[in-house]
Amino acid sequence: MAKLSKILVISALSIITMSTTAFAQTPKDTDSGLLMLVNAEYRIPDGFDPDKVMFEDTYYLMREEAAENIEIMLDDMENELGEAPMVVSTYRTYQKQVDLFNTDYNGKLAQGLSPEEAMKQTRRYVALPGASEHHTALAIDLSNDGTLEENFIDTEAGKWIKKNCYKYGFVVRYPKAKEEMTGIGYEPWHIRYVGRPHSDIMYANNWCLEEYIAALENNGMITWADGETIWQIYYTENENAVYSNVVDISNSNTGGYVVTTHKGKEIITKAETVSSIAYRRNKLLSRLNG
Ligand code: DAL
Ligand code: ZN
Repeated sequence: MAKLSKILVISALSIITMSTTAFAQTPKDTDSGLLMLVNAEYRIPDGFDPDKVMFEDTYYLMREEAAENIEIMLDDMENELGEAPMVVSTYRTYQKQVDLFNTDYNGKLAQGLSPEEAMKQTRRYVALPGASEHHTALAIDLSNDGTLEENFIDTEAGKWIKKNCYKYGFVVRYPKAKEEMTGIGYEPWHIRYVGRPHSDIMYANNWCLEEYIAALENNGMITWADGETIWQIYYTENENAVYSNVVDISNSNTGGYVVTTHKGKEIITKAETVSSIAYRRNKLLSRLNG
C-alpha cells in the first residue's frame, strides 16, 4: 500500500475510534496496555500475553499499533535517508528472555568475570526475565548491520530516530542521561511504542517513561495542546472513575491507569490567526509571482 493511503487509512481509523469511544468510560472497561511501565521494579504480571500481529512478511511479532507505525516510519526513513534500518528484535516470551539473559551472563563468566560483576554487566543491557518490555510486544530494536552497539547513534539512522521517532508514537526508551531511572544502559536502538500524544509529551519534556508516569501520578492530570487538539491525560487508581471523551485507557502497571481524553480543538489566539492569515497571503503572493 502506498504511504499516503496508509496514512489516510490510519487517520480514518483514528476518527472512527475517537467517535466510537467519545462516551463515558471507566478504567475497568478497557486496557490498551500502551502506557504499561515495565522495569525491574514493575514486572510483567503473570500470564500476561499481549495481542500480536506479524510484522510485514517476517516472523517478528508486535502489537498492531506498533506494526502500523513502524512501517510508516521505516518507509519515511527510506525516502529521506535512502535506506532504513532493519527490525532485529520485537516481542519476546519470558522464556526467550531467560535464554538471552543466561547466555549473556554465562558468556561473561566464561570471560573470567566474577558472578557479581557478570550479573551487574548483564543487567545493564539485558533486562531480568519479567522485566523486559519486549514482552509487551511494544518494543522494537533497530539495526543497520545486525549489531546492537552504542555507536548506532553516530549513524544517520540513529540520529534520525532520536530526532523523529516521537512523530510516529515511539520513544527512545533508554536514553543515555536516564540510566539511573530506567536501570538500563544507553540503547539508542531500542524504541518503544506509547502512541501520540504521549510520545510528543515525553519528547518535549525530555522524560523517560518512568518520569512520565511519575509526572502523571504526581499531577493527577496533564493538559497538552498540539496545535490542533487539546488533550487531558489523567492518572487514577480508581477503576470505577468515570471519564468522558476517552481516547485510550491503559493500565500503567504501577497500581494505576492512564486515561487519555480529547477536549476538542485548540483555541487559536488572535495573534496566531493574524500571523496565519499573513502566512497564507505571502504563500499565495509568492505562487502568483512565481
Ligand atoms: N535490552 C532491553 C533492556 C531488554 O532486554 O529488554
Ligand atoms: Zn530492545
